[in-house]
This record gives sequence, C-alpha cells and structure tokens, in this order.
Amino acid sequence: MGVWTTLFRKFRGRRSYDESFLAEHIPAHIAIIMDGNGRWARRRGLPRAAGHHAGMLAMREVIRAADDWGVQVLTLYSFSTENWKRPRQEIDYLWQLVDEFFQLDIEELVERNVCIKIIGDEEQLPEVTQATIQKARNQTIANTGLVVQFALNYGSRSEIVKAVQTVARRVERNELRASDITEGAIAAALETADVPDPDLLIRTAGDQRVSNFLLWQIAYTEFVFVDETWPEFTRTHFEESIKTYLTRERRFGGLK
Ligand code: FPP
Repeated sequence: MGVWTTLFRKFRGRRSYDESFLAEHIPAHIAIIMDGNGRWARRRGLPRAAGHHAGMLAMREVIRAADDWGVQVLTLYSFSTENWKRPRQEIDYLWQLVDEFFQLDIEELVERNVCIKIIGDEEQLPEVTQATIQKARNQTIANTGLVVQFALNYGSRSEIVKAVQTVARRVERNELRASDITEGAIAAALETADVPDPDLLIRTAGDQRVSNFLLWQIAYTEFVFVDETWPEFTRTHFEESIKTYLTRERRFGGLK
C-alpha cells in the first residue's frame, strides 16, 4: 500500500489540499497538559466539576482528532501526584469522570483500534477506577492503532526515582556495573519505555510550565502553549498546534 493510500485511509473527515501536508508531517507522539478546567467553570459561574466534565468532552474530541490524523501516541496529563492536594469532593468527581469516560467511550475506542495505556501509580486509585481501567486496558491490549497514554496519579520525578531504583537493583545483582549505566538503561526502566519521546507538548490555559510531566522524555520536545482553556480546545486548536510545531526547526542540539 502506498504512503498516500495509508495516509488517506487514516482520514475519517474531509481534508483540503493543504492539510495533506499536515498529514504527511504529523508528529508521532503528542503530549498534552490539559489545563484550565477550573478557570473555564469559574468564568461561567459554574462549579469546578462542570469544568472537568467539559474537559472530558474536549479530551474525547482530541483523541478522535489524533486518531484521524494518524498520530501514533497521545499522552494526556489527567491527574498528577500533586492533584491529591485538591478538595476531596473534586478528586472524587475526577475519578467518577474517569469511570464514566471509559464506560461511555470504550466501544468507540475499540472500534478505532486505539490501545489504552496508563502511566502513573494506579495502586492509590479507588478500587472501582482501577477495575474500570484494567477492563479498558484488557479490551484494547491487542489494538495496533493510536496509543493513548493516560497519565493518572503521575509524577515525573517519582517515575525517574523508580526507574533509577530498577537500574540500581540490576547493579546489586551484578547484572550491570555502575559505570555501564547508560541513558538507554534509564529510559528502558521508565513507564514510557515502549513509546518514542514526545515530538510536541501542548499546554492549554496560558501557563508556560511543565508541572512534573515527562521531564526525562521532553529533552528535545517542541512546546506549544495556547491561551484557550482545555474545555475550549477543539480539533481546530489541535491542528493549529501541529501547524505551529511544523514551523519549528528541530536540530536536536546539532547544526542545521
Ligand atoms: C487541570 O485543570 C485539569 C485536571 C487536573 C484534570 C484533567 C481532567 C480531564 C480533562 C477530565 C477527564 C479525564 C479522564 C481521564 C476521563 P485545573 O482544574 O487545574 O484548571 P485551573 O488551573 O483553571 O483550576
């Protein structure tokens, strides 16, 4: 099958000519910090939960867009290790939303050949949520299309610490000498070992920080910050962010 046939097979919607350029240069891995749900709600006089619900709807559309464009990996920062500092009620609602999302969307995700992955420490999640996630993962485990990594109870420093512990245990067992520890050995011990590093990181809602997200993996990632809050982020914003990414010259520390 020719490359164009493959690309066009990925399209589910109508695409104009100049969008075919986009399809050809689509980043393999896009990571997103979905920020601003609370602000979206506050500006509308709504409870924060309404913002998170609207955020879930935006997330659903972006997963569809990423799949339609043939993105290989989409990583979504859904709950950070720091988010436990929020009021109990808000945290409970977020887990409820995760359950709701997987229950409502699993059929479509299976149909789209999406493979669901979780990064982060699942053990602290409510048992119901753990079960929902496990079920969704099992149902999509053999899928070969878009990999969606939900970062749930995820913190990058904690991920790196665990990876270093894994490598240190190999040293303790005399499988590896300390002087032989490579970047590859650390990367292989991270939860993201089986996917390429992100090409593009998008953060919504105007703040320009990384918030303990994929610190190791974003060494050469291009950042795109958008002012819209996450619930306002549409398929068009997603495509515009990719277009912005395409204007960047990636040199990976080398020369042009
Ligand atoms: C940040 O906005 C957003 C979150 C902490 C939650 C992200 C969750 C979703 C998009 C919903 C669905 C997720 C799944 C996996 C079903 P914020 O609340 O910090 O916004 P603020 O800074 O304006 O208060």
